[in-house]
Amino acid sequence: MCGIFAYAGKKDCTDVIIKGLKSLEYRGYDSWGVALKTGTGITLEKNVGKVSQVESLESVNARVGIGHTRWATHGNVSVLNSHPHTDSSKRVYVVHNGIIENIAELKKYIPGDLFYSETDTEIIPKLIAHFMAEMDFPEAVKTVAALLKGNFAFVSIDRDSDYLIAARNGSPIVAAKSGGEFFISSDLQSLIAYTKKAFFINDGEMVIYQLDKQSLVFYDFIEKREVHKTAQSYDLQSGDIEKGNYKHFMLKEIFEQPVRLENTYLNYVDDFDIAFSEMLKPTIVQKINRIVIIACGTSWHAGLVSEYWLESLVNIPVEVEYASEFRYRNPVLTENTLIIAISQSGETADTIAGIKESRKFGIPILSICNVSGSTITRLSDATVFTKAGPEIGVASTKAFTTQLEVLFLLALYLAQQRGKLRHKDIINYLKNLKDIPEKIERVLSKTDQISTIMESHYAVTNALFLGRGVNYPIALEGALKLKEISYIHAEGYPAAEMKHGPIALIDRNMPTFFICIRDQSYEKVLSNIQEVKARDGIVIAVANDNDERITTLADHVIFIPETIVELSPFLTVIPLQMLAYYIADKRGCDIDKPRNLAKSVTVE
Ligand code: G6P
Repeated sequence: MCGIFAYAGKKDCTDVIIKGLKSLEYRGYDSWGVALKTGTGITLEKNVGKVSQVESLESVNARVGIGHTRWATHGNVSVLNSHPHTDSSKRVYVVHNGIIENIAELKKYIPGDLFYSETDTEIIPKLIAHFMAEMDFPEAVKTVAALLKGNFAFVSIDRDSDYLIAARNGSPIVAAKSGGEFFISSDLQSLIAYTKKAFFINDGEMVIYQLDKQSLVFYDFIEKREVHKTAQSYDLQSGDIEKGNYKHFMLKEIFEQPVRLENTYLNYVDDFDIAFSEMLKPTIVQKINRIVIIACGTSWHAGLVSEYWLESLVNIPVEVEYASEFRYRNPVLTENTLIIAISQSGETADTIAGIKESRKFGIPILSICNVSGSTITRLSDATVFTKAGPEIGVASTKAFTTQLEVLFLLALYLAQQRGKLRHKDIINYLKNLKDIPEKIERVLSKTDQISTIMESHYAVTNALFLGRGVNYPIALEGALKLKEISYIHAEGYPAAEMKHGPIALIDRNMPTFFICIRDQSYEKVLSNIQEVKARDGIVIAVANDNDERITTLADHVIFIPETIVELSPFLTVIPLQMLAYYIADKRGCDIDKPRNLAKSVTVE
């Protein structure tokens, strides 16, 4: 939700900032802008559209500058609303991510000041400039940061000094210093080219950098005191954020899944031992009598799959909640509940809010996350990291399957520790899990077949996805993938629910994607397929290798290798990801940056 990149240093900052913004574009891409401090003033350049389309900007020989790539919240997409924003004397410039909630109250400080944009951001430079009548720039920013309510991260510069000052409350921001250069960014990925160490800024903190003196101060604007911070190492490689020979990041990430799953497995399993005791202490494991999972989007679907595993293998009650609903409905959380927060980015505002709500009950919070140092990992008691590597395509793929993997390992670990599974059963499950990457490779080799199916159906306007049991959440995920990137209206349902509504939509123009593997519901799903065919519907089925019955019923079948039913979601989701990708590509959609979506939703 908006990307921020700022630089102060010996280089001309124009190219550095544009490059930084390009790597942050997954956070928002409806408009962009930069404010660059030159010897004579501040040059402002803003535009509607994607920053990736900017070849380069004319150099203005600036050493300090801020940049922004926007995902509109307040105010439509226009040059006027795009960031940076400034005050009426054009002295202070600000880029901002998040939402300021108390604008009406804040406007009382500056009566009569006219606003040129519809944004909530404009109030920030105006207030800073207002307080600068009585104090210097850093003091004015401290004062304003303490007055703002809502989730925000902002960076500001001043025409008449060489400070770069950022503040954070709820929206992510990191800082890094390397030699005489200083960077502020919404994420670590954009810093890989410059340094492998970064300062993580916490809520309520500011970072104040002065170029001339190269002085760096961290300040707590709530407690009103300086704080000491050391730079922390992070483990990212530049290859992780490059597309290589793939047309899109999403395609690269789909094809990376076998190796990312293998890495995640090897990270936690050694000689059939699941190394989770650091994250979940035996005392907690024995005490918990209920698990509540909170997440959003695709991460929520991973939570739904794990509900089947946790209930059947560990025999513990599980609820899976949309984080956005959970926090506002006064959840009843008893002493022995374990909260599991699932998030690829670790920055989703609703999931963060859900964690904060749970904190009030003093219960353990475990997160499953892909980004070390992210807010969710810092708010949790412990984190199990997915080893998916940076996920850049907005539609989540490899993060989803690696989330599934750690959730399955977690179910096995809890079942073992609580005496629900014998060691030999654990070994058997782990052996099956270890075979999954090679089986996914086999599904990935079906590109030609999937492209043929795509050619016949890419122009449809509606689609239905049906599955049962542990594959019902995969039907939801298949529908989500298709609608996110191809803009085809798609819905996922448990197959048996078809008769309670969706069947009314079926006609010869609507494809129904069935997940029909050989499990306990197999016969029933075959009957559902017949019901669709009886109404002239098109059936595309994902089924197990050598299933001859299904070939006589469905219009197209994508065969996947056999595995144990519990692990089937790892394989059934792959053709659905591929179909969504190839359909969206054929429709000419901007797959890595679908309209209106953002990779990391840092506003509620
Ligand atoms: C956005 C992304 C989805 C993601 C969801 C939750 O909607 O586009 O891909 O699943 O946020 O994000 P998280 O980072 O918390 O998993």
